[in-house]
Amino acid sequence: MLKKLLTAAGLVLGMSLQAAADPTVVGYYATWKKDQTAGVDLAKYTHVNIAFGEPTANGSVHFVDPVSLPDVVSEIHGSGAKALLSLGGWAGSYAFSDVVKSPAATTNLITHILDLITKNELDGIDLDWEYPGRAGDTCNSIDEAHDTPNYLEFLQKLRTQLDSTFGIGKKLLTMAVRTQPFDVDGAPLTDISAFAKLVDFANLMIYDINGAWQAQTGPNAPFDYEEGKAEQVSFITAIDAWTAAGWPAAKLNAGLAFYGRSTTTLVDMTLDPHNQYQNQSNVVPQGDETDLPAFDACANATAVSGTWMYKKLREQGILTTPTTAASPWVRQWDSTTKTPWLFNPTTKQYITYDDPESIKIKVDYAASRGLGGVMVWALYMDYKNELLHALQTWGTAPAAGKACQAEGQLACNDLSGMSPDYLVCLYGKWLALSCNPNTACLPNQDSIVCGWPKHKK
Ligand SMILES: *[C@@H]1O[C@H](CO)[C@@H](O)[C@H](O)[C@H]1NC(C)=O
Ligand SMILES: *[C@@H]1O[C@H](CO)[C@@H](O)[C@H](O)[C@H]1NC(C)=O
Ligand SMILES: *[C@@H]1O[C@H](CO)[C@@H](O)[C@H](O)[C@H]1NC(C)=O
Repeated sequence: MLKKLLTAAGLVLGMSLQAAADPTVVGYYATWKKDQTAGVDLAKYTHVNIAFGEPTANGSVHFVDPVSLPDVVSEIHGSGAKALLSLGGWAGSYAFSDVVKSPAATTNLITHILDLITKNELDGIDLDWEYPGRAGDTCNSIDEAHDTPNYLEFLQKLRTQLDSTFGIGKKLLTMAVRTQPFDVDGAPLTDISAFAKLVDFANLMIYDINGAWQAQTGPNAPFDYEEGKAEQVSFITAIDAWTAAGWPAAKLNAGLAFYGRSTTTLVDMTLDPHNQYQNQSNVVPQGDETDLPAFDACANATAVSGTWMYKKLREQGILTTPTTAASPWVRQWDSTTKTPWLFNPTTKQYITYDDPESIKIKVDYAASRGLGGVMVWALYMDYKNELLHALQTWGTAPAAGKACQAEGQLACNDLSGMSPDYLVCLYGKWLALSCNPNTACLPNQDSIVCGWPKHKK
């Protein structure tokens, strides 16, 4: 639908909407949840990744949850999306390192993948190794020096087999990746282009940036980071890191969190409402009503996660509209990280999450950077498609050459506060201009100022 609307608009205005014409929208489908797609506008997704199968050390694929792949695939195909099987995930990446270093296990896993694709009529495979050459879940095997080069070799073999079995480019090979390129001996690769040639696209996981594991509260999925506070990682830095290492923007989808995280603070955050960074305890509270204590075999512990699906923030009445909290909850908007957060002074619970406003900012930015599209974790976490519909602004932000209404209006080309480029509305079209060298365009009310860049490079 989205695609058709944008294409029609492009024709009417007689201009090229190249980046906007065909955004990829990848949604993760969790096999451990019942009624995954109830109420979900599946037709808005171009790709659905069925999560997860887990590679074992000998290259077999283990399914933790009972799932009928043919039924799920047929539902996805019925909506017009492509269906991929995702292998790995946070808890399912324990054996990737073993597989890619063993020629026998590599052959075995590739055979299983080809078999799964054929039997279930899948459109491809998504590899979600968290993470090559880097510590993830404590049960993971890891080889800091060799994981990343071994992964490259594995992908080469898999791509070759996919192409020779099903026809060149007929089946998709995609990856989920973290905020920086894969590590070798503790440092991210500075050139990731060899990987990019083998896969159709990568989905950037730009969430779980801050959480209960830290001493202070902080945003789960910051658009920008606050200098000196929490992780100095953001939506912007993740896109920068991958594109600077030679990953083509068009093969990158920016990950969006359809969920939030809760923690318990040590202070009343309403006393300092413009500060999203306050001391917290390491006790994770229950998140939404579905967040029941679960046994984690790797940690050998039973715990809640503190996760709040956006859906449950709405259904359980914490948010009565996308931007209104019900007392005693108080909603704040952080204008630096461009994320909302909630605080309950009675229980001292803090929730960092995304809403239609924060999603729209990320989507506009991803489109302005020429990304291929977005990825969503996870499709069942939305409420009446409120977040999904925020994706429809893809490519509608001001851009050079596009039509504009208000003569003389000024707008930054991107919201990062790091780019000198801005736009002015002249004779009905946005014209590209630049602030002076070493300054950056900063949004200011409905206009702009040229000032110091937000962060030092
Ligand atoms: C591979 O490993 C899995 C899980 O450890 C095991 O169940 C299976 O029997 C093994 N397969 C072979 C062929 O050894
Ligand atoms: C937060 O924790 C730090 C480190 O324990 C401590 O030094 C600081 O005083 C605390 N701040 C508040 C406001 O309690
Ligand atoms: C797991 O935890 C239980 C209870 O704390 C303990 O008795 C058991 O030995 C642990 N198992 C392993 C494999 O560490």
